[in-house]
Amino acid sequence: MHFSQPSLRTKLILSFLIVIVIGGLISLYLGQRLVKNTLISQAQKKVNYDLASAWIVFNERLNDIKDLVSLTAARESLQESVVKGERDLILRRLDRVRVMYGLDILTLTDQNGRVYVRTRNSKITGDDQSQDALVRQALQQGVIAYPEIIPQSELLKEGEDLAKQADMEFIPTPKAAPRPENRETSGLMLKAAAPLTDEKQGILGVLYGGILLNRNYEIVDRVKETVFKGEKYKGRETGTATIFQGDLRISTNVTNERGDRAIGTRLSAEVKTAVLDEGKAWNDRAFVVRDWYITAYEPIRNAGGQIIGILYVGTLEKPYIDTANRVMLTFTLLASLCVLFLLIILYFSTTRIIKPLQVMVAATHQIADGDLNHKVEIQSQDEIGELASAFNQMTEKLKAANRELVDWGTTLEEKVKERTKELVEMQARLVQSEKLASLGKLAAGIAHEINNPLGGVLIYTHLLLEDADRDSAQYENLKKIVKETTRCKDIVKGLLEFSRPKEPEMMLTDINDAVLRALAIFEPQVLFHNIEVRKELSELPRIVADSSQLQQVFTNIIANAAEAIAGNGILTIRTSLDKQNDRIKVEFTDTGHGIKPEDMMRLFEPFFTTKQVGKGTGLGLAISYGIVQKHQGSIEVRSEIGKGTTFTVILPVRRDVSGD
Ligand SMILES: Nc1ncnc2c1ncn2[C@@H]1O[C@H](COP(=O)(O)OP(=O)(O)O)[C@@H](O)[C@H]1O
Ligand SMILES: [Mg+2]
Repeated sequence: MHFSQPSLRTKLILSFLIVIVIGGLISLYLGQRLVKNTLISQAQKKVNYDLASAWIVFNERLNDIKDLVSLTAARESLQESVVKGERDLILRRLDRVRVMYGLDILTLTDQNGRVYVRTRNSKITGDDQSQDALVRQALQQGVIAYPEIIPQSELLKEGEDLAKQADMEFIPTPKAAPRPENRETSGLMLKAAAPLTDEKQGILGVLYGGILLNRNYEIVDRVKETVFKGEKYKGRETGTATIFQGDLRISTNVTNERGDRAIGTRLSAEVKTAVLDEGKAWNDRAFVVRDWYITAYEPIRNAGGQIIGILYVGTLEKPYIDTANRVMLTFTLLASLCVLFLLIILYFSTTRIIKPLQVMVAATHQIADGDLNHKVEIQSQDEIGELASAFNQMTEKLKAANRELVDWGTTLEEKVKERTKELVEMQARLVQSEKLASLGKLAAGIAHEINNPLGGVLIYTHLLLEDADRDSAQYENLKKIVKETTRCKDIVKGLLEFSRPKEPEMMLTDINDAVLRALAIFEPQVLFHNIEVRKELSELPRIVADSSQLQQVFTNIIANAAEAIAGNGILTIRTSLDKQNDRIKVEFTDTGHGIKPEDMMRLFEPFFTTKQVGKGTGLGLAISYGIVQKHQGSIEVRSEIGKGTTFTVILPVRRDVSGD
């Protein structure tokens, strides 16, 4: 089988493949999104919790400062020293507290907010701190703690080193919002303030202290340790925390390309807008310094509620993306394996479908080539099985139809043969009767003219014979004349019979009887002595015929047979009635020399004879033919050279004398 189009199997597999591939791609896409979303949203939730933890660390530190400041302010010894004006003592004691508890500043003002003791820089005193939000609130309401922006001028009062710690140049950062400045000089401080009170004199002053968050990594590192526990991915710490002052990273463990803390870099513009400008929390992926992180940002507010910075935690997005990709890769591999497996199954299942079809196609070819006996052997119970049995039924019917056609063809052929033969015979008969008619006229004329003179010759010869001497030569000659003349008269008589046949005298006749009478004439003759005659006579109905004429016909035929046998032989005479009871057959079969094919056509011609001159007249069959024809019958001849001849006289069964 050769198809210019793809085979059935290819089509089947292709259509399956299209479904599989499209389905696969869709589920791959959905799977990818699902995996990423669940993984990332899970991670995002965790980061949100982490930010809450970061706030706890942040606020704990603020509260530590608040507790320290308020407890120190509440110490009676300090109050007493203030009342007594022991400035040096106060300075020594407070400075020891500052250093011991790691505060960057610890300063005491009087009740008007003027600096009385500045532990970090004892030289600068007397400046007015009453405008500071925390100092003012401490004077009015008591202990307070808040993050606060400290301008450079204030930082300088506490010491040049502190101002320098806060001073930070901006580092160009991708995705950061543009800013006119290029450095930050102020600092962000966790600050607490507490009033010093005396039972008698009321408020004595305010003690305030704090730590500068710029370049101070204590909080962010504690967040990283407690929250992320130092998780790493490919050698990099994944968890990060940052404190922003405005949009500037002042304390962080996010690193730059060199692996240093990325302080001085700035917040990406979109997060800045959301958190700094609009005061919202940000819980989403964000670009941090140089990578994408899953992040959470929340604003840091000062005592006045203004946003002054941001607290951030975030975890590298890459590990999650990689995990998602790995899951997807595994999924894809598995899916591909499934597809492969499916294709193999498909291949075999299509074979099961296609095999019977191929068998059917082969069978069709075989049948088309004429082998109607070919059967399709498919036993399956499905549609293909049905098809096969329908196919077999079809060939069966085809075979029957074919057989009928062939049979019909042969009968047709036989019929044509039969009819042709009849036609040829009829034509021959026609020719014969025409010949007979013209010959008959001629013969009649001649016979009539010759008959009378012959009569005269015979009479005069007899007269001469009476007078002649019986021993004389003349007598013998006269005798010869009589003999030859008699022969002539016989011929003439035959001619006359032939040319002017008598009208038959029709009466009910027994054909068997006529046959037997004809035979009886011959049996005593010498010619018949060595011939065995077999009579097979059937019972026949009497028919209307001229019995003496028919007897003459039979005599002629028997004579010819005896002459053909010429010695030892068998003559079989058989009479029969045909099945329809409408024709009688009289068959004469001899074992004589037979008739040459070229003579067959001429047998019934008058004067046709193969016998020696003087022996045959060639009129016997011609006369017989005329008689049988008068009876509406026919004569058939079959002969084989050297074996014998059969003459069959066929006569119609007629019982009605007047009915012709
Ligand atoms: N039974 C026969 N066997 C062989 N030849 C026959 C037979 N009957 C007739 N014939 C042939 O047909 C010819 C014509 O027969 P017929 O008309 O009786 O004339 P005749 O007998 O005088 O020759 C015969 O000469 C003979 O050759
Ligand atoms: Mg004859």
